[in-house]
Amino acid sequence: MRPLAKAFVYYKNLTLLVGLAIFVWAVAHMGQELPHLPELALFFLIILVGELLPVTIPGSNIDVTVTIPAIMSLFLSHGSPAALTVAPLSIIVGVMIVHRKQNFRWLVDMSSYNTAMCTIPIGVASWVYYFVGGHTIEASPDVAVASMFIPLFIAIIASTVANAIIFTTGLSLNSGDPWRLSFFQSLRWFAPNFIVTAPSGILFAMLYKQFGFYGVLMMIVPFIVGRQALNMYSEQMAAYMETVTTLGSYMQHYHAYTKGHLERVASMSDKIAKQMGLPYQSLMFIREAGLLHDIGKVGVSEEILDNTGKLSDDDWNTIRQHPARGAEILAQMKHFERIVPWVRGHHERPDGKGYPDGLSANDLSIEAAVIAVADSFDAMVGGPDEETQRVYRVPKTKGQGIDELRYGSGTQFDPRVVKAFMQVMDREEIENGRQHTS
Ligand SMILES: [Fe+2]
Ligand SMILES: [Fe+2]
Repeated sequence: MRPLAKAFVYYKNLTLLVGLAIFVWAVAHMGQELPHLPELALFFLIILVGELLPVTIPGSNIDVTVTIPAIMSLFLSHGSPAALTVAPLSIIVGVMIVHRKQNFRWLVDMSSYNTAMCTIPIGVASWVYYFVGGHTIEASPDVAVASMFIPLFIAIIASTVANAIIFTTGLSLNSGDPWRLSFFQSLRWFAPNFIVTAPSGILFAMLYKQFGFYGVLMMIVPFIVGRQALNMYSEQMAAYMETVTTLGSYMQHYHAYTKGHLERVASMSDKIAKQMGLPYQSLMFIREAGLLHDIGKVGVSEEILDNTGKLSDDDWNTIRQHPARGAEILAQMKHFERIVPWVRGHHERPDGKGYPDGLSANDLSIEAAVIAVADSFDAMVGGPDEETQRVYRVPKTKGQGIDELRYGSGTQFDPRVVKAFMQVMDREEIENGRQHTS
């Protein structure tokens, strides 16, 4: 077992233990809540409905549910023992229903995992809420709803961050992805859910205070609105991903080489950028830029692209226009604003001898330099089989490709990128259990 994977198992078990300990504490303190069983049962059902109607974020396997506002409301009205008992039970039942076909062992694992992922953030939120002077309606029936705003807001932030930290640490121990990157990514996914939480939590507090038991029923309305909002966000992301994939694969129908090339450049650019620890905004778009870097070739005829003989000056000029053409195409779409200079710059060189603008190292974006290295390496080495090699050249071996990059470091390629590329290759070699032969 990899040392990283071992650390992940320890981490996971520790998290489960803490989560279960909180749950046991909550059950032990449920005594005074027993007269409110009917209301708690209703909360149980609302949380369960939220769990059974999740929204999957496209391009990821993360499900967002509108369960959190319900839990928050439960906490505000009945205090932390009730929230920390009812919420995990409801979520466990939800997991059992959704995954009823899984085997028993899996269901037990999943249930304890979900209990921990639920009790720790709620535990943090409620502790912070009390700590900053917040009151629940159950403990102080006369509490002014307005006085709940600030403590609730602080508690939500604390809980969001706690959630992201727990999730990110597990993720980066498991996959080896840089912690900082995963943290911001997780925050980005968790944040919309928590933004829905604050207003719904407060709204419920008001309804509960005013109408008691019936107020609980009325909170179904903000649930539906919240779910609708999440669905819209999710659909927008799906449309965006679809545009990228369609554009990127436009040329792939014709060209087996191009198909693999675009995918490999996208994936390698992503790895290099992560290795370099580029800013979050760059990491978000570098894969798309890799997929689209040669989109400008749609205007270049296949005879020129596949020419195995010597190219005329005219043909060569046409090919050299593809980065600028690609940038023009992408500039038409607001979504791709950020990657326009990256695509335009993917054949530039630090020594100023690149095209189309002959930019020098200082004017060249680091993302363009990343794509340039991934692109050149793939152009030299190609894919794993003959179909995905370039038609007009005998492919180089991996080792030869690496040597070329080393040789061009500082003139043709940005040295920082070449260095990161080597690190990625080394890591992959280690992971594959082989030594590279360069
Ligand atoms: Fe290109
Ligand atoms: Fe390319």
